Amino acid sequence: MAPIDKIKGPIREELKAFEPHFKKTVQSDIPFLGVILNYVLRRKGKQLRPMFVFLSAKLNGEICESTYHAACAIELLHTATLMHDDVVDETYERRGAFSLNALWKNKIAVLVGDYILAKGLLLSIKFEEFTFLKLISRSVEDMSQGEIVQMRKSRKLDIDEETYFDIIKKKTASLMATSAAIGTASVTEDNELIEKMSTIGEYIGMAFQIKDDIFDYHAKGIIGKPTGNDIKERKMTLPLIHVLNKVSSKDRRRIINLVRRKNKNKEKVREIIEFVIANGGIEYAEQKMIEFRDKAISMLNEFPESEARESFIELVNYVVNRNK
Ligand code: IPE
Ligand code: IPE
Ligand code: MG
Ligand code: MG
Repeated sequence: MAPIDKIKGPIREELKAFEPHFKKTVQSDIPFLGVILNYVLRRKGKQLRPMFVFLSAKLNGEICESTYHAACAIELLHTATLMHDDVVDETYERRGAFSLNALWKNKIAVLVGDYILAKGLLLSIKFEEFTFLKLISRSVEDMSQGEIVQMRKSRKLDIDEETYFDIIKKKTASLMATSAAIGTASVTEDNELIEKMSTIGEYIGMAFQIKDDIFDYHAKGIIGKPTGNDIKERKMTLPLIHVLNKVSSKDRRRIINLVRRKNKNKEKVREIIEFVIANGGIEYAEQKMIEFRDKAISMLNEFPESEARESFIELVNYVVNRNK
């Protein structure tokens, strides 16, 4: 059985029922918007965040109506941030197809992103899920802040490891923490438990973004979005940050200058990538990723044995072993 099938095992029915639920929430009466939304809905992603929501609920109680609202709200927010992200990063491929900014330009991508973001927040209001609303809004704030710090750093190129971890905690791990937290909050009011699940989600999110950043060093064409793009955007991620810390100051200056001035030159980007690979940047990032994975798994192991727990652990392993 493929790992993803094993993960879905205990929540298969729920994930299936989630689908029409999700589609219904984004409908619009405006025909042109409908066309774009259809395009978006036909290209669903891995749906990792809804899986976090359902598994967290199952691990801590009985999945209920609220759990579906949580899963929908989270996936809507995630979808909106990807639209905005592709505008910010100037990338034209997403989920193996053209991104909205590629097909309809930035203006439309920003506005449709806003529309979907609003739908996510309104959903929580409609069903009076104020705990969700609070946690989700906080994540949106974190994500924007993370992105802005990242952008600032790509101008100055003075990022260190600590700042990198802070950025990815905000821009990615925060939403995963919230997914686990609201999944749990949909079935229990035990704050300690919600907090604990949030921490597990955060560790998984850290591992997830490190993996995403490692992907950027891979060859083109396997993950459904462009690679080599981080350097093109002068975004320094863990493999590069680590290598810059350990090489001679002469090499360090040379590489930083390449990132600064030759970031749009394909051959130079390749040279930087090869330099990072040759100097153990990927292995180092993998090691950090594994540390986060292990922290998440050891916390999950504190829960009584269950099918949901096994699936959750499987999901953590998938996050670090996946190939897209
Ligand atoms: C991509 O997230 C954005 C990041 C936080 C790196 P996913 O890889 O979960 O995106 P989809 O939903 O599967 O496309
Ligand atoms: C992740 O950022 C997207 C958000 C958290 C909003 P990236 O720019 O690193 O993600 P990808 O690689 O484009 O999916
Ligand atoms: Mg980005
Ligand atoms: Mg991006």
